[in-house]
This record gives sequence, structure tokens and C-alpha cells, in this order.
Amino acid sequence: MNDLIRPKRIVLGITASIAAYKAADLASKLVKSGVDVYPVLTAEAARFVGPATFTALTGHPCPIDTFDEPFPGEIAHIWLARNCDLIAIVPASMNCIARLAHGLADDMLTATVMATAAPILLAPAMNTGMWNNPATQANLETLSKYGYQFIEPVTGMLACRTEGVGKMADVVTIEAAIQSVLRGSQPLSGKHVLITTGPTREPIDPVRYLTNRSSGKMGYALAETARRLGAAVTLISGPTALPAPIGVQTIPVETAREMMNAVQAHVQTANIIIAAAAVADYRPETISPQKIKKNGSAPTIALVENEDILAWIGKSKRPDQTLVGFAAESENLLANANKKLQGKNLDWIVANDITAAGAGFDADTNIATLISRDGAQTPLPKMSKREMAERILVAVSPIPPAL
Ligand SMILES: Cc1cc2nc3c(=O)[nH]c(=O)nc-3n(C[C@H](O)[C@H](O)[C@H](O)COP(=O)(O)O)c2cc1C
Repeated sequence: MNDLIRPKRIVLGITASIAAYKAADLASKLVKSGVDVYPVLTAEAARFVGPATFTALTGHPCPIDTFDEPFPGEIAHIWLARNCDLIAIVPASMNCIARLAHGLADDMLTATVMATAAPILLAPAMNTGMWNNPATQANLETLSKYGYQFIEPVTGMLACRTEGVGKMADVVTIEAAIQSVLRGSQPLSGKHVLITTGPTREPIDPVRYLTNRSSGKMGYALAETARRLGAAVTLISGPTALPAPIGVQTIPVETAREMMNAVQAHVQTANIIIAAAAVADYRPETISPQKIKKNGSAPTIALVENEDILAWIGKSKRPDQTLVGFAAESENLLANANKKLQGKNLDWIVANDITAAGAGFDADTNIATLISRDGAQTPLPKMSKREMAERILVAVSPIPPAL
């Protein structure tokens, strides 16, 4: 069949994590959407899920060992490597990530990955300790430099009955990422995206500070997605509990002043600037060098206004730079968002009603309206922050993406 009209073909690698059973659901969803799925298991993964499941779901053999040769007349790992449009490893174990980072090719899956020129997408899944292990983090950085793409794990209840980062992203998110790569969409390739996120902390004394409820989740989702869509990403982040996204230049800051300094240092090269941070409007006028003691009368803390980072970017940006702001409002959402859009010279604003269930601070989902400079409104109904990140980036991207 002509290569241009054949269905998209992927190699779906499955490695040995509890999350391996979710790969069966993913395979089924991909097949139903018309993707030709070639499953490959690692030997250890086959202790969690069997090749028969994947063969039945995909209609293709599910090799494990490099010397399994299920395609007559072909060397299987080379044939798979050359004839697929994408390799997705779901779930990707710590061990598999390490082997790939070190160029090992000692089973069918790793040999196929080593031989391919196709894009490679990993959905890591592992215990929090394994994820935070410096070896894993170094291996992820290495793979990011080699051009691997990631669907970051989330924080949640793990199979080891602990709560933490390392839980595989949900299957719907992974399928969306696979479909997006298959559509050949790296619309932000060659672009620099600068994102601010999280709260700021304005110190009162050495132990106390003023802050807000921002979790940073929307900004981190934007950073991961922009990276996956091909951009070089700088993420300037106030204090959050989130791990730095793989392959993203993450600059931790605490105060609004530090955030402003970091923005000023990185804004020149940015093509798209997304200000998702919840910057404190005020800071204590003076910071007590010593912990303020109780002495019978409550202290008065005088506040002064912080410099408005978004307004500064709006004033100083070049016409070729796209500026996106967020409006987190608890009343008169659209009117307030429009005022901010015009008043701060933004190109787009994402208006969030923080009082709606499933929207705003610390939620994993969001509900918003995207408003353009010319007043066009796109409602973004309740969806995961990752999905919303992709919708926002695609809409504001100056290059019409082939999505
Ligand atoms: C019950 C159980 C669950 C496991 N879950 C994970 C996991 O989620 N992620 C991971 O990286 N390793 C996990 N491991 C360890 C891997 O299975 C082990 O490192 C294995 O050698 C990986 O093989 P592979 O990378 O070749 O598939 C688990 C092991 C067991 C016994």
C-alpha cells in the first residue's frame, strides 16, 4: 500500500509495571480509532499481562525476545523500527528508561527503539522513590536530549499504597498525545515558550509569608504540552509541590520580584509568553529580620504594591511576541477578563471562574473561556488541565498547526 494512504502504524511497547494492564485498554482504543498497533512486550511485562491479550486486541503477533521472528523473511526489530510512525512505551518502567538512556538493545523492544528513526513517546509509571531517584532523573534528561517525548506521570495513589508522583497518566491523555504525534504535529518546533506559574511568597519574617492557593498545575501542564509540541520551554515557577517537567528549563523563584527578574532575563527570546502565575499584588513593606514574637498586641503589617509583571510584559513586548494572560475571577468573569486583556495589552486571555466546581486553583480540571484580542470567545468546558493546555497552545500558536 502507498505509504501516504496506509493507516498510521505504531509499535506499542509494554514494560513491567502494574500499570501494564492499562496498555490493553489503550491498544483497544487505538485500534478502534484506526491505528495499526504492533505490540511488543518485555519479558518481565509478560508476567503482568500476556501476549495473547495484545495479539487478540491488535491482530498482530506480540514478540518479546529479540530472536522471536514473527514476520516471515524479515528481521522483526528492524522491520518494526523502519515501518512504524511512532513507538509509544506505555507504561515505561524505570529499568526500561535506564536501558534506553544507555543505548542497550537486549530485547525486542529496546532493539526496535535503538534502530528506529520514528518519534518515541514514553509514559513512565513507577513508585515515587524510583521516579525521584537521581539516576532516573538523569536518564530522563538524557532521553529528552536525544529527542524522546514524554507524557509525564501524575501524583496519585500508587499500587504500592503510597501517595506520590509516579502514577502513569490516564489512558485518555496518553491516547490524545499519541494521536497528536501521529498527526505529525510539532507546531511549536523552533519556538521558545516562556511560562510563569504558581504562587509567589512574600516574606513577613524568616518563617512567615503571604501567598495564595495557586498549585501551579495549569502552568506545568502548559510547559509539558509546549515541550511535546516541539517548543523550547522556560518555566518560571513559584513554590509548588510539582516535579520539574522533563526537558523544560525550570527556574524556581519565590517572590514577585524574583519572578520579575527571571522574566526580564528570558523574555527577549520568547515567541509566546504565557503568564499563568498567581503573583501576589502586595508584599510586606519591611521584612522583619527576626521571627515576630507574640507580645500581647497584634502587629500591623504595612503592605506595598508589587510591580505588575504582566503589565510590564504587555508594555515592553515586541509585535512578533504573543502574550497570553490568565484571569482568575470570582465575579463578573468575562467583563473583568476583557478589561485585563485590553488594559495590559494582551493578545489572549484565559478567563477562569474560580468559584466553579472543577475549575481554578489546585484542581486537576479546569473550565475557562479563551478570549482573543479581537473579542472572539472560545468556551473551554470542563477538561483536564493537560487537555486545556493543548487547546490553549494550539489556539495561540502563531503557526497554523496541522492538528
Ligand atoms: C508487583 C510489581 C510491580 C512493579 N511495578 C513497577 C512500576 O510500576 N514501575 C517500574 O519501573 N518498575 C516496577 N516494578 C519493577 C520492574 O518490574 C522491574 O524493574 C523489571 O525488571 C522491569 O523490567 P522491564 O523494564 O524489562 O519491563 C514492579 C515489580 C513488581 C514485582
